[in-house]
Amino acid sequence: MSKITAAITAVGKYLPEYKLTNAELETKVNTNDEWIVSRTGIKERRILKEKGKGTSFMAINAANDLIKKINLDPKEIELVIVATATPDMQAASTSAFVATKIGATEAFSFDQIAACSSFLYGMSTASSYIESGRYKKVLLIGADMNSSMIDYTDRATCIIFGDGAGAVLFEPNTNGLGLQDEYLRSDGNGREFLKVEAGGSILPASEETIKNGQHFVYQDGRTVFKFAVSNMADVSEKILHRNSLTIDDVTWLAPHQANKRIIDAVANRINLDPSKIMLNIEKYGNTTSATLPLLLNDYESRLKKGDTIIFTAFGGGFTWGSIYMKWAYNN
Ligand code: UT7
Repeated sequence: MSKITAAITAVGKYLPEYKLTNAELETKVNTNDEWIVSRTGIKERRILKEKGKGTSFMAINAANDLIKKINLDPKEIELVIVATATPDMQAASTSAFVATKIGATEAFSFDQIAACSSFLYGMSTASSYIESGRYKKVLLIGADMNSSMIDYTDRATCIIFGDGAGAVLFEPNTNGLGLQDEYLRSDGNGREFLKVEAGGSILPASEETIKNGQHFVYQDGRTVFKFAVSNMADVSEKILHRNSLTIDDVTWLAPHQANKRIIDAVANRINLDPSKIMLNIEKYGNTTSATLPLLLNDYESRLKKGDTIIFTAFGGGFTWGSIYMKWAYNN
């Protein structure tokens, strides 16, 4: 019997309609379009404005987009993983709500939380369930409502983040396509540099934490930038070397979309031709867990069966890693 690999067989997405442009940000904080574009590559981001709607709303819509595209019976889905850094609520699983709302009534579900690496790690988790032969249809959704934890008076963070969701379906493949290798890492020494300080178990919400703005994202941008470049380049080099791939063997680099300068620096360090970089940061900013599946959605029509894709991400924690995948279908 040939070995079972885990392949992505369909993708779907959801983006809120509201576009927060650099021009609008100029009216909120002391910044300008030229600075934002030259320092980050971002022109606009999507923001979920409707009251009472959160991460699950976008996750459900992304999943339904996928389900509709391939005419999938949601009852066939056995596991739903929601990769996110902004769950709907504490304690109640976001994925359980999502699974029920999309009609995946035969599935179990859980949230996977690893900051901006949530989706990358989720690809590893979803694939393991498929490779083991335990399940045949695993739905992985990356969804984040970053606007729920951004201070729109802080120019260091409000220009970067956006909201969105993307979904992928993992299924078994016996032709050697799908996930080939992974190199995942974490380093807890990094948690001071990118965090939401309050609202968790070490600093529960109080009048004080609200007054101090400790429920907003704090980032030491320069430090995170430095670690993001060196660590994403290191793991990408490592995975190429370990699989005897040269840079010419790579069809696409699918990097986490946090800053175009980070992406360019990583590509430069591994000597990758810039035309092979998947990029959509200009339209959506950093959507945390949604960046990688949104790239797959935006590039789906250009992907060909057998393409070699190197995914890489870096995020709070610190968490990071790289995944080598052979694309499994023509669109
Ligand atoms: O997804 C999770 C991982 N996150 C990341 O990977 C993000 C990593 N970090 C970054 O992307 C960048 O560090 C930022 C985009 C956050 C900032 O860019 P930078 O080139 O590192 O800027 P900086 O913080 O070194 O600031 C340079 C200057 C400073 O002014 P002085 O001190 O040189 O006078 C800032 O005060 O730019 C100023 N500045 C701004 N100016 C206009 C900072 N933010 C802004 C702004 N508009 N929004």
